Amino acid sequence: MTKPDIAPHKGKLLVLTPGMGAVATTFMAGVASARKNLSKPFGSLTQLQTIRLGSRSENRNPLIKDFLDLAGLDDIVFGGWDVKADNAFEAAKNADVLKPQDLDPLKDELEKVTPMKAAFNQRYVKKLDGPNVKEQTNKMELAEALREDIRNKLKETGADRAVMVWCGSTEVHLHHSDCHRSIEAFEEGLRNNDDSIAPSQLYAYAAIKEGVPYANGAPNLSADFPALEQLAEQEGVPIAGKDFKTGQTLMKTILAPGFKTRMLGIRGWFSTNILGNRDGEVLDDPESFKSKEVSKTGVLDSILQPEIYKDLYGDLYHKVRINYYPPRGDEKEGWDNIDIFGWMGYDMQIKVDFLCRDSILAAPIVLDLALFLDFAKRAGKGGIQEWLSFYFKSPQVKAGHIPEHDIFIQHFRLKNTLRVLAGEKPVTHLSENFEEEALS
Ligand SMILES: NC(=O)c1ccc[n+]([C@@H]2O[C@H](COP(=O)([O-])OP(=O)(O)OC[C@H]3O[C@@H](n4cnc5c(N)ncnc54)[C@H](O)[C@@H]3O)[C@@H](O)[C@H]2O)c1
Repeated sequence: MTKPDIAPHKGKLLVLTPGMGAVATTFMAGVASARKNLSKPFGSLTQLQTIRLGSRSENRNPLIKDFLDLAGLDDIVFGGWDVKADNAFEAAKNADVLKPQDLDPLKDELEKVTPMKAAFNQRYVKKLDGPNVKEQTNKMELAEALREDIRNKLKETGADRAVMVWCGSTEVHLHHSDCHRSIEAFEEGLRNNDDSIAPSQLYAYAAIKEGVPYANGAPNLSADFPALEQLAEQEGVPIAGKDFKTGQTLMKTILAPGFKTRMLGIRGWFSTNILGNRDGEVLDDPESFKSKEVSKTGVLDSILQPEIYKDLYGDLYHKVRINYYPPRGDEKEGWDNIDIFGWMGYDMQIKVDFLCRDSILAAPIVLDLALFLDFAKRAGKGGIQEWLSFYFKSPQVKAGHIPEHDIFIQHFRLKNTLRVLAGEKPVTHLSENFEEEALS
């Protein structure tokens, strides 16, 4: 296999997060904690998973982080923006995800991460307000200010390069409009303060213009429209999205492929959650919930292919509910009632009660996306990175491609992409003399 030219990792990698709430600060704290050997980065493929190379009998199974020239945890520096003025330590304390005994040893480091002023407008996140907001009102000027922030932060931290992962609140549900169709129309829209351009799109635009890879962890429209997709392709900047795959959707994309492989039918799938963090409060607004609902409900159709398997999944009733319930904070509880059927149409039920911690599941995704996107950029891969679909509820794909939601297929694709990027053969899981064995 020919190995693509990959620029070597050197110096520091600046990980920028618009939004320094529960997810971003849990990510920062986890990296700082692992660096001090106070905890292990559980949940992260880049840090803990191995990758098989060649045939099974070769017994070559290096850790992904040893196999690829990724930035190491010690090389990461943090930067972020938020509407609230709290530094990362205060914000992590307020988010109440981590216990004081886990946070306190990280105080010195996290206190140094102070949020830059946000490009924010309440029109796009109704249930949020705060003092740390840029004064500019023109969207092009705001985007220029964000670009300047990126350059300044790179200088201030001495980092060699940066990546950006949107960890901001879920914005209201917006549709593509005329200004999203081309780069020129989008830039014109920025200059004219087009109402259909939300703040997250300003961050995405600023990142791509600065050559900084961008991932969207929330379900709202951010870099997933033709103008920014073209810009990312043109500038050779990797982008990926959207909506971190955690909690109930993670469960769904683990369970549904299992039912389908066994040809078990599903009559209904009812999912409901209670959560009480700020994300839950923002999602209490119907317009922000609409963004989430669209991203959560597409998953089953894509995995189960009801148009092909009409008898099994053609009448599936799928309902998703999110309920804001403050007493639970970040410790969400998600219930699934799944009505399945088998041989001769006999009914069965499965109940899942997942007492999960949202930010604990999302933090390693932020880390992996940052390291893989930086690697992709150095490997010369611009535009949409479909091989990172593994991390998202609503994978962003190129025009005409069908998103893949099955977590096992996503994982297979991710690892084969890494193999190919490193000049190794993709793995098929077939034995070397498969054809002979099959035909003998
Ligand atoms: N935790 C999960 O499992 C999970 C899963 C999928 C998606 N998400 C998404 O990730 C995002 C972050 O989740 P969270 O739990 O950290 O939420 P959070 O409310 O704790 O943090 C979001 C932060 O973004 C800030 N913010 C909002 N708009 C901003 C802007 N324009 N510029 C800068 N800062 C801005 C808010 O002030 C807040 O501090 C949400 O959109 C959420 O829906 C989270």
